[in-house]
Amino acid sequence: MKNLLVTGGCGFIGANFIRYLLFDSNFSGRVINVDKLTYAGNPENLEGIEEKYTGRYYFVKGDICDAETMGGVFKKYEIDTICHFAAESHVDRSILKPDTFIKTNIEGTFNLLELARFHKDRVVLFHHVSTDEVFGSLGQDGYFTEETPYDPSSPYSASKAASDHLVRAYSRTYGLPITISNCSNNYGPYQFPEKLIPLMLLNALDGKPLPVYGDGKNVRDWLYVKDHCKAVWVIMKKGKRGQTYNIGGNCEMYNIDVVNKLCDVLDAIKPSESGGSRRDLITFVKDRPGHDLRYAMDFSKLENELGWRPDESFETGIEKTIKWYIDNKGWVERVKSGEYLKWIDQQYE
Ligand code: NAD
Ligand code: TYD
Repeated sequence: MKNLLVTGGCGFIGANFIRYLLFDSNFSGRVINVDKLTYAGNPENLEGIEEKYTGRYYFVKGDICDAETMGGVFKKYEIDTICHFAAESHVDRSILKPDTFIKTNIEGTFNLLELARFHKDRVVLFHHVSTDEVFGSLGQDGYFTEETPYDPSSPYSASKAASDHLVRAYSRTYGLPITISNCSNNYGPYQFPEKLIPLMLLNALDGKPLPVYGDGKNVRDWLYVKDHCKAVWVIMKKGKRGQTYNIGGNCEMYNIDVVNKLCDVLDAIKPSESGGSRRDLITFVKDRPGHDLRYAMDFSKLENELGWRPDESFETGIEKTIKWYIDNKGWVERVKSGEYLKWIDQQYE
C-alpha cells in the first residue's frame, strides 16, 4: 500500500480516517483524497493537512462517477489501494430525493471498480466502507452477522446494498482483492448536523426543539468514529481478501435515551441560560417512513480474527464529541450558515 486513494475524504468519517492515518497509524505512503465536495464535504475538516503533509497528502476535487477524472487520478498517482467512503449518506435525504444516491453510491462504486479492474496488476486492495443498514431491521432480539441476508429498507440502504454486491462480485468474477466493512452508527467530531447526534446537540445549544421520530423507541448501535477508523485500517492491513467484516460499538440504545443523555451531559457541561433542563426541548414528531426498528452488530469475527475492539464507551465518546462541538464554534457556525459552500464555489468554480 503505497498510493492510497481515499474517496469522500472531506466527509465526516473520511476526514477522521485521513487524520487517523496521518497522525496515528503506521501508514507511510501517500494519501490521495478525491471528494466532490457536496454539502456534506467540507475541506475545513482537513484544514492544514495539505501544508503539513506536503508530498504525502493530495486533494483532488472530483466526482467518483466521472470516469475520465478518476482514470486520470489512478494514472497520475499510481493508485494501488482504494478506501472507498464517498457516498450520499443520509436516510432522510434518500427518502426525499433518491436519484443522487443511485448515481453516487451505485454508479460511482461501479466506476471505481472498473478502474481497479483495469489496473488490476497494480491494485493490492479495494476496501469498501458500508453500513449495517443493508441488513434491514432486527426485532427485539438477535444480532446481524456477516451471514445475515440483505434486506434494506430505504433508498440509502438499498443503494449501499447494491454497491456491496458489486464489490463482492468483482472479487468473485475478476479476482479483485477486496474487503468490505459494515459498520453501525458513528458519532464524533466533524459530523454534519443532519444526523441524530450533532443535530440534537446543536439544536439543544440553540434552545431549539429536539425532533424525535415516532416514539423514540428505535434502537441504534453507536460507535465513536475513531474506533471505526481503527477498525477499517486493521481490516485493510490484516483482513482476509474477499471477506466482509461487521464493525459495531456494543452500545445499543433507544433514540430517546441517546437524546436524554445528550441533554443531561450538555446541562452539566454548559448549563442553559434559563437554567432549565434541555430535556424540555424534546418534541415527538411524525415517524420516518420505513423506519428500521433496531440495529445490533455481532462483530466477533473482527474481534477474534483481527483483535479489534472499540476503545471508547458511549460515556467517554459522547463527552469528547460534545466538547468538540462546543470548542469548535467557528466550524459549527460556518457549517450552519453554509458559508463553507460559498468558499468552495470561490476556490474551485
Ligand atoms: P458524509 O455524508 O459525511 O460524507 C460523504 C463524503 O462523500 C462527502 O465528503 C461528500 O462530498 C463525498 N461525496 C459524495 N458524493 C460524491 C461523489 N459523487 N464523488 C466524490 N465524493 C462524493 O458520510 P459519512 O458519514 O462520512 O459516511 C462515509 C461512508 O461511511 C459512507 O459510505 C457511508 O455509507 C458509510 N457509513 C457511515 C456511517 C455513519 O454513521 N455515518 C455508518 C456506517 C457506514
Ligand atoms: P440518523 O442519524 O439519521 O442515522 P440512521 O437513520 O442512518 O440510523 O438517525 C439515527 C436514528 O435517529 C434513527 O432511528 C432516526 C432517528 N432520528 C430522529 O429521531 N430524529 C432526527 O431528527 C433524526 C435526524 C434521526
